[in-house]
Amino acid sequence: MTHKLSSFPRPFIITVGVPKGGANKTWTTLNVASQFGLWGYDVLAIDTNAQHDLYKDWHDIALDGLWPRFEVIWHQPFDKNDEQAPLLDLTPHAHRQFIFYDTGQYYQLKTTRWAWMNCHALILPVSPNMDQLGNFENGIETYHALPGKKGPIIVLPCQAKVLKNSKAQERFQDILPKFEKMGCLVPKRANGEFYGQRDMVPLSEMGGLFTNRWMFAEATSGGALKRHSNDFILRVQLNIAWIRGHLESVYGWFPGPNLPPIDTSNREEMLRTLRTEYIKQFNNPESHLGNARRFQDDEAGERAKKIRTGAPETG
Ligand SMILES: Nc1ncnc2c1ncn2[C@@H]1O[C@H](COP(=O)(O)OP(=O)(O)OP(=O)(O)O)[C@@H](O)[C@H]1O
Ligand SMILES: [Mg+2]
Repeated sequence: MTHKLSSFPRPFIITVGVPKGGANKTWTTLNVASQFGLWGYDVLAIDTNAQHDLYKDWHDIALDGLWPRFEVIWHQPFDKNDEQAPLLDLTPHAHRQFIFYDTGQYYQLKTTRWAWMNCHALILPVSPNMDQLGNFENGIETYHALPGKKGPIIVLPCQAKVLKNSKAQERFQDILPKFEKMGCLVPKRANGEFYGQRDMVPLSEMGGLFTNRWMFAEATSGGALKRHSNDFILRVQLNIAWIRGHLESVYGWFPGPNLPPIDTSNREEMLRTLRTEYIKQFNNPESHLGNARRFQDDEAGERAKKIRTGAPETG
């Protein structure tokens, strides 16, 4: 694959990768892919993790009758003989505007390695856990050492400590310039200062409440509706907008979106639109949700049918 800087590549491939488990890869893929979709882009996310967390989260959102504005497919990294599976054929997805790869922690896996080698940008989520610093550095060095022309490494600081005077957070902020020296794009304010605690994606105390990683996830607890705060969502979106700005500075302006962008500042209105779009997707045989073969027998399909026909939900 060649990176043409004069015209925006299509599909534009973004890989989310860290050579470490439990390091926000799926969280980042899900939320960045969804935000790109909310901006109106035609987005596919590929779940290459054997646990299929991304696929399960997407399915969980679909169970609530919502369309997160991207399609997902999963690619099993191993075949039934425990051998590494062949690479995914992307030909049927060539029309997509953006393809996101949620990779497993082992870049030695064929599929992860391909996604690292062939992406237009690698997003490296980092968090204020200094015992993980070696893994982040290892990821950066590995990416640079892979053959071929490379897109940028975009560092996304996640799970910033919310307490004031957190030593871990201070140390984390001190370390950001080091990532820049290693050749990564690191978020900065307009005045050139590196992002501080208030700018980063914070650690959400609500995280454990929800059955999926979506920033718009909801749950009922003690009879009350629980959501991530508007402040949390704004900070996530600020970081995703920063990523977009950098991609545009390297590759040129994003193309025009395929779908109407959705204003997320009015959450009720946004959810209403995503419910309507979910029903449309369900009726579209070319969409994942409309693929009756895949969904006809499962719970999501049953629930989707009820929403579509207006039948009351039971249980
Ligand atoms: N900002 C946040 N606030 C609170 N919890 C978060 C935040 N970001 C991610 N998490 C949680 O951190 C956990 C690890 O994230 P995630 O599953 O994305 O990691 P991963 O790198 O994909 O892991 P794996 O290697 O198992 O695939 C998840 O439970 C996720 O919900
Ligand atoms: Mg994961």
